[in-house]
Amino acid sequence: MSESELLSGIKSHAQRRLVLVSGRAYPELATSVAHELGIEVLGSDMHTFAGSEIYARFEESVRGADIFVLQSHTRPINEWLMEQLIMVDAAKRASAKRITVVAPYYPYARQDKKGRGREPISARLVADMFKVAGADRIMSVDLHAAQIQGFFDGPVDHLFAQPVLLEHFRETLSREALTVVSPDMGRVKVADAWSDKLGAPLAIIHKRRDPKVHNDVSVHEIVGDVSGRVCLLVDDLIDTGRTIVKAAEALKANGATGVVVAATHALFSDPAYEILQSDFIDRVVVTDTLPVPADKRWDRLTVLSIAPLLARAIHEVFADGSVTSMFDGAA
Ligand code: R5P
Repeated sequence: MSESELLSGIKSHAQRRLVLVSGRAYPELATSVAHELGIEVLGSDMHTFAGSEIYARFEESVRGADIFVLQSHTRPINEWLMEQLIMVDAAKRASAKRITVVAPYYPYARQDKKGRGREPISARLVADMFKVAGADRIMSVDLHAAQIQGFFDGPVDHLFAQPVLLEHFRETLSREALTVVSPDMGRVKVADAWSDKLGAPLAIIHKRRDPKVHNDVSVHEIVGDVSGRVCLLVDDLIDTGRTIVKAAEALKANGATGVVVAATHALFSDPAYEILQSDFIDRVVVTDTLPVPADKRWDRLTVLSIAPLLARAIHEVFADGSVTSMFDGAA
């Protein structure tokens, strides 16, 4: 081999390779992301044994690759989390150079602190598990609590869906008589950023949750003027839908002329599909960080694609660009 052949060989070896692999929870999202990136999702052999253990093997070499392991943490979350951990382990043992866990919805994000004695901090446990499996970095959208970034010992790319949602509302929602509403005290900072962006006043709902009855809420009071206003309720996630429906009911009872909901993660656990169609809510707009089956969608629901945002962030990470600059001025 001549010296120049050797040098060009070394150069091509130095070229990094972007690889995207997907768990089985929501492969359509990975396909859309790959499409945006102009690549194919790398094939993998994934199956579940009779005893419910999961098997994963990549169909091509990932040696030296900058690999992004995408999983959407929909139900059954524990199974899909385990699958993603196994995929990360497989990538590590196959000598991938850098492994990024892409978890558009971070599992267990709501268990980010000990609210009461003898509780776990499950969001921290998840970060530890990703690390032990071999993840070098994590990418996620609208973390329920920003401090989760500090749970992982490595870089965390925290993406915001706000630009995607805002673009939609700029085209579809009149700003006249618009009020942005935070459905609880925990969302005030994010709702405030929305109010800035839209130049609309802010109202806050004081929500109460019975710690012994999970997933049930009551509205205590509304701070701010909502009478005669169209209210844009912004939340990071909708699970059973009770928070949003109770908030919408209270807003309408206090004279709101319309209620439009914007949320990033559509967990949509029972009875969300049923109660979100309530007459108190005029429109619900979510992203597809989690799958929303076509046969369960209703006419006042809009699902926006998060794939372009994920693809751009993946490209920025791969190219050593800037993820922060994607969100200048966002929440
Ligand atoms: C609360 O802190 C969250 O931001 C959501 O408002 C809440 O977890 C949604 O749950 P659900 O839809 O079951 O009321």
